[in-house]
Amino acid sequence: MSQSDKKSGAPAKGLHKGLTSYGDAGFSLFLRKAFIKGAGYTDDALNRPIIGIANTGSAFNPCHGNAPQLIEAVKRGVMLAGGMPMEFPTISIHESFAAPTSMYLRNLMAMDTEEMIRAQPMDAVVLIGGCDKTVPAQLMGAASAGIPAIELVTGSMLTGSHRSEQVGACTDCRRFWGKYRAQEIDAEEIADVNNQLVASVGTCSVMGTASTMACIAEALGIMLPGGASPPAVTADRIRIAERTGTTAVAMARSGLTPDKILTGKAFENALRVLLAIGGSTNGIVHLTAMAGRLGIEIDLAQLDAMGAQTPVLLDLKPSGQHYMEDFHKAGGLATVLRELKPLLHLDALTVTGRTLGEELELAGPGFKQDVVRPFANPIFPQGGIAVLKGNLAPGGAIIKQSAANATLMESEGRAVVFEDIEDMAARIDSDDLDVKADDFLVLKNIGPKGAPGMPEAGYLPIPLKLARQGVKDMVRISDGRMSGTAAGTIVLHVTPESAIGGPLAQVRSGDRIRLSVSQREISLLVSEAELAERIRKNPITPPTAERGYRKLFLQAVTQADQGADFDFLRPANFTEKVPRPR
Ligand code: FES
Repeated sequence: MSQSDKKSGAPAKGLHKGLTSYGDAGFSLFLRKAFIKGAGYTDDALNRPIIGIANTGSAFNPCHGNAPQLIEAVKRGVMLAGGMPMEFPTISIHESFAAPTSMYLRNLMAMDTEEMIRAQPMDAVVLIGGCDKTVPAQLMGAASAGIPAIELVTGSMLTGSHRSEQVGACTDCRRFWGKYRAQEIDAEEIADVNNQLVASVGTCSVMGTASTMACIAEALGIMLPGGASPPAVTADRIRIAERTGTTAVAMARSGLTPDKILTGKAFENALRVLLAIGGSTNGIVHLTAMAGRLGIEIDLAQLDAMGAQTPVLLDLKPSGQHYMEDFHKAGGLATVLRELKPLLHLDALTVTGRTLGEELELAGPGFKQDVVRPFANPIFPQGGIAVLKGNLAPGGAIIKQSAANATLMESEGRAVVFEDIEDMAARIDSDDLDVKADDFLVLKNIGPKGAPGMPEAGYLPIPLKLARQGVKDMVRISDGRMSGTAAGTIVLHVTPESAIGGPLAQVRSGDRIRLSVSQREISLLVSEAELAERIRKNPITPPTAERGYRKLFLQAVTQADQGADFDFLRPANFTEKVPRPR
């Protein structure tokens, strides 16, 4: 026997899957069994459905610090359901431990996940992710690998307390660092805060990218209902892990593959949730990449229209006040889904084999709480993210309007331009920098190819001399991303990026720029003739590399509007476009 049972023609299962090529299938299986028996397994164990568990535990990834406990619980769940758990390592990426930026490695992790799922004999896979890029990477890989897959996130960290004030990473990290830069707090206090911001293992405690992707995975139906919100160190998180293992065995038996769950309807549900939770802007890039693997295109114009019908309901930092642990106590994502019910596709299938609507019924009626607002009384009347267009961003740009300043969102200003991150670092705190509070800070060359890897440098610091005067926000424009934990009037993902010759490359200090979020406009107020002349005099050569992953990355990475996935990992044909107009 090899990839399929020779007599029945049925697909191969368990250890029979994906035999190593020795030219003799019987010998390949014989050899495989001989080696695995060296680890003490019995035939009884090896004849059960094999559930792979992607272990992303790493000393360099404290957001995954509870991976050993989760793996133990997943294994328990798998065995309770009669399956055989097999843990295997993949790349793990932590935001603060990945240079030049975690996004540079997301596609590498997606390839690692896809190929190790495909190469090793498993009937279903449990993906343990958490920190920002890990969940999209795993779901991109699993969508392409095509075997039953279920996501399990590590869960959020606990909040800490600084001088009686509740604090958590990383909105408060930025807030306190801003105070320190403005000399409002001293070195001793910033060191004290540093001890309290991350009070346990787990992912960031606000609606940053990790929490956003956890909610998105649950909304997509590729994670257990209720799986997004339990904090990392709670019993609820461990129970979810056990049930994830049990569910994975059922999925292996029923053949519930990702394409049956990750449909156009599921992505519409996820986009709706992204808007209603005030989710990270990174969620759009990741959802675009994930949907792309299944031949589904995200229509940014329609996403913007969806935003007009979808208020922000979740009162969590950075758009609101609370933290993930409060969200969990308030009932988790089901509380948001209940409010959005008339706008959701309730017939979308989930990992349990039941529909989203059936799961919502099972979750019960909810209870009184103050973290998720009723639809009629939102914390922001429209979706958190708006899509901008204009001659500065012909392919689009985005702004997290729920975390921006209302006055600045309708303004015109003088550009103060930084050519790249190094230029910004060298000049932004200089007393000689010609900058005023109503100027627009522009940073080039931090797009997918620019830095490379589209780093989260779009949250430009307020120039020191203005910070000292008490300036807290300015319009900032770039082709990069920003952390979901950050807030401010920040235009991101300007497409096409400057490094491949997008109009952003031609902006000069002193140019006027107009931002009108109500009109969805980002315009460079320079004549077409002048712009054409600048392009002629200043042609842009896209960056290249001599060798290695960097060479592959620079050759293959797509723009933000295509999810910054590698072009060769996306399908040749796209069959669906979401969200559909309503
Ligand atoms: Fe890992 Fe924020 S750094 S989730």
